[in-house]
Amino acid sequence: MPTVRVAVIPGDGIGPEVVNEAVRVLGACARVEPELRLEYRYFDWGCDYYLAHRAMMPDDGLEQLRGFDAVFLGAVGAPSVPDHVSLWGLLLPIRRGFDQYVNLRPTRLWPGVEGPLRRFGPGDIDFVVVRENSEGEYSNMGGRLRPHTSQEVVVQNAVFTRFGVERIVRYAFQLAERRRSHVTGATKSNGINFSMPFWDEVFNEVGEEYPHIRRELVHVDALAARFITNPDRLDVVVGSNLFGDILTDIGAAISGSIGMGAAANLNPDRRFPSMFEPVHGSAPDIVGKGVANPVGQILTAKMMMDFLGYPRAGRAIEEAVTATLTAGIKTRDVGGTAKTYEVTDAIVGYIGALPLEPLA
Ligand SMILES: NC(=O)c1ccc[n+]([C@@H]2O[C@H](COP(=O)([O-])OP(=O)(O)OC[C@H]3O[C@@H](n4cnc5c(N)ncnc54)[C@H](O)[C@@H]3O)[C@@H](O)[C@H]2O)c1
Repeated sequence: MPTVRVAVIPGDGIGPEVVNEAVRVLGACARVEPELRLEYRYFDWGCDYYLAHRAMMPDDGLEQLRGFDAVFLGAVGAPSVPDHVSLWGLLLPIRRGFDQYVNLRPTRLWPGVEGPLRRFGPGDIDFVVVRENSEGEYSNMGGRLRPHTSQEVVVQNAVFTRFGVERIVRYAFQLAERRRSHVTGATKSNGINFSMPFWDEVFNEVGEEYPHIRRELVHVDALAARFITNPDRLDVVVGSNLFGDILTDIGAAISGSIGMGAAANLNPDRRFPSMFEPVHGSAPDIVGKGVANPVGQILTAKMMMDFLGYPRAGRAIEEAVTATLTAGIKTRDVGGTAKTYEVTDAIVGYIGALPLEPLA
């Protein structure tokens, strides 16, 4: 088996703290994936890099990353750098430059974690949001005319292409085939009268190719409410860039803590590396305190293993996280008292104790 080359960008705030923990867990996975050889190269890009170089990464940053099998990122953002600079200077160029058109965010209430929804426990909340990640409302097209005058005009365009909508919707249907065969499309075709009827049309056209998958279109406002009232009626949710962005934050909230959320920016064609990063940000308010929840980053590592073709490592991580949380070993954001490293110690210990060859 060839060595898997991973570019690691720990980033800012708690990013380096949780990345270290996830790398420890990946090390433990060698036991269940004897063929797995991971080689890391670390990049110090982020807000400190920006303060020193006036750029979030070097000009040839994408070229440096291109040859890797995956990018494993912590979080980016610091109070000393405006958020739009850190986002548009690092994350978005990587997502766009490598055509990572799928933003995949599993939403799950894990055993041992109490969510904010009284009626729902573990097992009830288990769905995936597929967010379009390359166009739509975040297309960077528009401008300001006569800025800061009383005649100011601001235009922000949303761009929907047939190619872009078809490929994200198709990804969602293919994912549903491996899950519970149900796709919910987020729309707003009552109010947004060009792009959303088009979105619905493509959704239904692609859906026709998958007659065995149940499909429905739900207006995004009603869907946001359903995330709270009936998350158990969701399996795969597909949405445009903006709708997916908003819905996934509700998803993180109903899973108990944003620190639990894993995510991936995928280039499913595998022409470019995909990037794996947790849902949460750099959490400057808790940096250095040893209380950051490492589970989101660790489950992000699981997504990376699954995507790279090491499902036994992915299963081992999932089992170990379940066992650890069930045993009550969890950080304070999910009601526990454990330190970051103690959660990881338990996860690593569980993987170390797994019987060999149990996960074929
Ligand atoms: N993908 C990314 O890199 C990303 C995503 C979101 C925000 N950001 C950046 O992060 C910075 C802070 O943003 P924010 O405060 O809006 O969001 P945030 O996710 O960093 O923090 C929100 C709240 O959740 C808590 N939290 C986050 N992750 C946690 C974890 N693993 N364990 C325990 N608690 C956790 C924080 O302490 C904070 O109270 C900003 O600069 C923002 O731009 C980056």
